[in-house]
Amino acid sequence: MRDAAAGGGTTVRLGILLSGRGSNFVAIAESIHEGRLKGAEIAVVISNAAEAAGLAKAREMGLPTAVFESRGRRREEHDADVIACLRAHGVELVCLAGYMRLLSREFVAAFPNRILNIHPSLLPAFPGLEAQEQAFAYGAKVTGCTVHFVDEELDHGAIVVQRAVSVLETDDEHSLAERILKEEHVAYTEAIARVVSGEYEVRGRKYVKKRGNGE
Ligand code: GAR
Repeated sequence: MRDAAAGGGTTVRLGILLSGRGSNFVAIAESIHEGRLKGAEIAVVISNAAEAAGLAKAREMGLPTAVFESRGRRREEHDADVIACLRAHGVELVCLAGYMRLLSREFVAAFPNRILNIHPSLLPAFPGLEAQEQAFAYGAKVTGCTVHFVDEELDHGAIVVQRAVSVLETDDEHSLAERILKEEHVAYTEAIARVVSGEYEVRGRKYVKKRGNGE
């Protein structure tokens, strides 16, 4: 990622992919709007579901949007349309925000270490669907959320930011999911800020500060 923070006013163009309510997208948009996330702008919001509430919110905000229905289409074909749209909008960093669809190999290869995902557990615990319910049912005392780079395995790439949430005696899966979601909204902004800063790099499984000269 070019060094947007130090780069004299350049901004990294984000492409947001969502399938549902879009609260993580709104949190990112608010962070940018309120100046808490510098060096990034939302170039386009894309959904695989025309009825996604997040899409309506993006339109209300006056952001460019696109819909590519995924139902009944081959994954590679659908993803080719999404990739073309991201490229047409000059997207440099893709942010999956409740995008409930696996990406094809081709998609991951098109944006190497340039796709972020948010997952509602402390990975590698509880990958897959309904991670909050999984943690609650398992009896975990601590869970949380993870923002990570997307690679070819599910919920697997290098971790950028994690935030922990205690499971309370008084919790049910809904109250727990609500508290995790609040942390997700903070975590996604932190993660994007890290990536656009240009100060970090992926080293093996780790996302760490770049070494200075001579180290
Ligand atoms: C979030 O909790 C996100 O972590 C989860 O979907 C929800 C989307 O909410 N994503 C996954 O479970 C991906 N495996 P939102 O539409 O309000 O941002």
